[in-house]
Amino acid sequence: MASFDEILSKPSVFRNINVLSPHYIPQELPFREEQTSRIIRVISPALQQQKPRNLFIYGKTGTGKTCTVKRLMRDFNSRTPGASMCYINCRIYNSRYRLLQKVLKEYIPSMDKSGFGLPYLYEKLLEYLGKGIQIILVLDEIDMVKDLDELIYTLTRANDELEHGGITILGISNRLSFKNELDPRSKSSLYETELVFPPYTSNQLQHILKQRVEEGFNEGAIDSSAVNLTSAITAQDSGDARYALKLIMKAGEIAENRGKLKISDEDVELARKKVEVDILHETISTLPEHHQVVLLSVSNLSIPGAPQYVRLDGESTSEGFLLLGEIYEEYSKICGKCGKKPRSSRWFKEYLNDLEMLGLLTTKMSSKGVRGHTTLIKLGHEPGDIIPLVEKNFFK
Ligand SMILES: Nc1ncnc2c1ncn2[C@@H]1O[C@H](COP(=O)(O)OP(=O)(O)OP(=O)(O)O)[C@@H](O)[C@H]1O
Ligand SMILES: [Mg+2]
Repeated sequence: MASFDEILSKPSVFRNINVLSPHYIPQELPFREEQTSRIIRVISPALQQQKPRNLFIYGKTGTGKTCTVKRLMRDFNSRTPGASMCYINCRIYNSRYRLLQKVLKEYIPSMDKSGFGLPYLYEKLLEYLGKGIQIILVLDEIDMVKDLDELIYTLTRANDELEHGGITILGISNRLSFKNELDPRSKSSLYETELVFPPYTSNQLQHILKQRVEEGFNEGAIDSSAVNLTSAITAQDSGDARYALKLIMKAGEIAENRGKLKISDEDVELARKKVEVDILHETISTLPEHHQVVLLSVSNLSIPGAPQYVRLDGESTSEGFLLLGEIYEEYSKICGKCGKKPRSSRWFKEYLNDLEMLGLLTTKMSSKGVRGHTTLIKLGHEPGDIIPLVEKNFFK
């Protein structure tokens, strides 16, 4: 039987595993100096009691949006009681009501009860800000807010009513199409200023990883070859720093489980397979409903032997590409089955774009056939890996 002493004294590849966690905020964030300065320039008027413009940050997953904002928040919040940044994860606080309640709880301890109506929350917010306080409301994963138009409207109205103080939205999202889902007034308000976080290149990832590896692993536990391989794999797939960190952490665990104290390239390769499955699970379960249904439609039609339309050309059939129209039909069918109204084909195309951005499928234009050019779609994973996951999320 293993004892605590035995487990704790066992040599490990890890020096400090927390450093490799996706929630760790490093002191230095290389390659994000420019983005950090832009954000500081936009929000600094709040420190002088002026209302900044709203800011919208967009970038693919793992490009450092959350950690960049969280890092400068510490500094901002230590400066004056008259201005503060309030971080909200909209995956959890996903409606106007829940969000306002959360914000007020942060600032007014007596609001720590539930059951207040929206008008009361609104009055309290005005009262608090009216003392001349500037709040920068960081809405991370803002696309998850169900009634975002209403939220933006409420906050805009609050600012209009206030003589002193104000509330500024700093929205963050990795979903490009979400912009078009907003009504035009909220859109122009939210996008007063925009900032893009580009994906990291392989060299940049190498640099980021080296820094984390030095703190996270024991000396000699990993060499530059495994770090370089991790960066190369990640850059080729996505440029997602979170993926790179996951990969290297998993490689460490695999090496340890194999009784080794040094991570080899082979461990990285083995970790890659495991991490991909984990990530697929995460990605799918956090997709909005219609995205999931679209993905399910593509997956259903990708099962070997599924009924398919007559192909435009032999080439697309053999590569497993599907026609846009047949997917839309399947999508409408599934919507019907679960009592949902299918969205128009314009939305449907946006969803396909998002799914492609997330690496869940690929699209290409057909060579000119009988019916001219058309979009062909192919699933990026095994249908068998996807279908049970979506069905579990969806048809609970
Ligand atoms: N420039 C960087 N230097 C060091 N670590 C970084 C850097 N950029 C990102 N990371 C690390 O990568 C991970 C992912 O970053 P972060 O959570 O900020 O991504 P994100 O852009 O918010 O992604 P998502 O859209 O999925 O929320 C974190 O562990 C973070 O510490
Ligand atoms: Mg984030």
